[in-house]
Amino acid sequence: MTRRSIGIIVNGVTGRMGYRQHLVRSLLAIRAAGGVPLADGTTVWPHLVLVGRSENKLREIAERHGLDDWTTDLSAALARDDVEIYFDAQVTQQREKAIRQAIEAGKHIYTEKPLAEDTAAALDLARAARAAGVRTGVVQDKLFLPGLRKLKRLLDGGFFGQVLSVRGEFGYWVFEGDWQPAQRPSWNYRAEDGGGIVVDMFPHWHYVLAELFGEVRAVSATIATHVSRRVDEAGQSYQATADDAAYAVFELAGGVIAQLNSSWCVRVFRDELVEFQVDGTEGSAVAGLRRCRVQHRAVTPKPVWNPDLPVTEEFRSQWTEVPDNEDFDNGFKVQWEAFLRHVVAGEPFQWDFLAGARGVQLAELGLVSAREGRRVEVPELAL
Ligand SMILES: NC(=O)c1ccc[n+]([C@@H]2O[C@H](COP(=O)([O-])OP(=O)(O)OC[C@H]3O[C@@H](n4cnc5c(N)ncnc54)[C@H](O)[C@@H]3O)[C@@H](O)[C@H]2O)c1
Repeated sequence: MTRRSIGIIVNGVTGRMGYRQHLVRSLLAIRAAGGVPLADGTTVWPHLVLVGRSENKLREIAERHGLDDWTTDLSAALARDDVEIYFDAQVTQQREKAIRQAIEAGKHIYTEKPLAEDTAAALDLARAARAAGVRTGVVQDKLFLPGLRKLKRLLDGGFFGQVLSVRGEFGYWVFEGDWQPAQRPSWNYRAEDGGGIVVDMFPHWHYVLAELFGEVRAVSATIATHVSRRVDEAGQSYQATADDAAYAVFELAGGVIAQLNSSWCVRVFRDELVEFQVDGTEGSAVAGLRRCRVQHRAVTPKPVWNPDLPVTEEFRSQWTEVPDNEDFDNGFKVQWEAFLRHVVAGEPFQWDFLAGARGVQLAELGLVSAREGRRVEVPELAL
């Protein structure tokens, strides 16, 4: 069996996503499994070049995982011939500049979302990458969640009949940082540092809606900064300038209406941190990160509105669990494997920079809708 080593810069590896999901759960897990097998029998072996700002943190991570290739000099890493892929999990604001550098260096690029801070910049990156002939990818991890895979299976099998609507609840309480440390980095709550829940979550909602139910044709959003003061990692109180909740309606091609709440200021009375309810003429489903439950029209109860009587039905017990029927691997890892096969073997990969730019566009137009208090149509993006 031939082993094909591929040099990958992992920039932002000290961050939450860079470390846990991309380094540990994806790239190191791929190495632990022996690499990514290709159809021709070759195995792709990620050689990792850790890049970041802090020498100490990089050295510590490298030593912890038996790695020895790391640097604080991105330009030097990009100049190396044995590096073929640049990966970016830095804070969003640093991304565009670094990706531009990587395109100029002729590297293939895989990146966390959002691709850039605005649509014009995202499209520009997509065009520059195309002109340079490099392959691109943007993380769209939610598509690989077991709950959403099962939902997709139901859609493909025609379970719903005609899908009418989708309602989704995403969120949990993010601590303010005063009497208990916040569980998300403080830049998320400062607009001037690239924060905000719309910029963070609408790129996800874009690909989830487009791939499962139809392209988004219009958005109406109301946003809020519910918690206006927070305390940062250094214990300093700061003004939260970014939106921490968004209440949005998305109109999809084909007529489905999707209504999604995203909030870091909500306490969870749900089974999972995100849940989507899909109602169709033939049946309904509720899908979360891992679980998916269904109710067919044939077993749908007929509740009658009567506030004078206590509830007589146990509604939750009337739903049926969709079985896994397969092993679901970590979604970030599955997408990494697909991107590596795309780069090395030319296999198709649909989640490219243009797809990423559509996510950025939805966030941008969601903010326009909220700012101007109106429904905003979403024009088709093309290169
Ligand atoms: N796919 C997902 O589900 C998901 C979830 C959370 C975050 N993200 C994305 O991942 C990226 C990183 O988010 P995170 O939550 O890991 O953030 P984080 O703050 O934990 O990590 C940020 C990383 O960027 C580096 N960095 C580079 N320049 C910086 C600067 N000037 N200031 C601060 N940090 C700088 C940090 O050292 C660190 O390695 C963001 O773009 C975010 O949108 C994606």
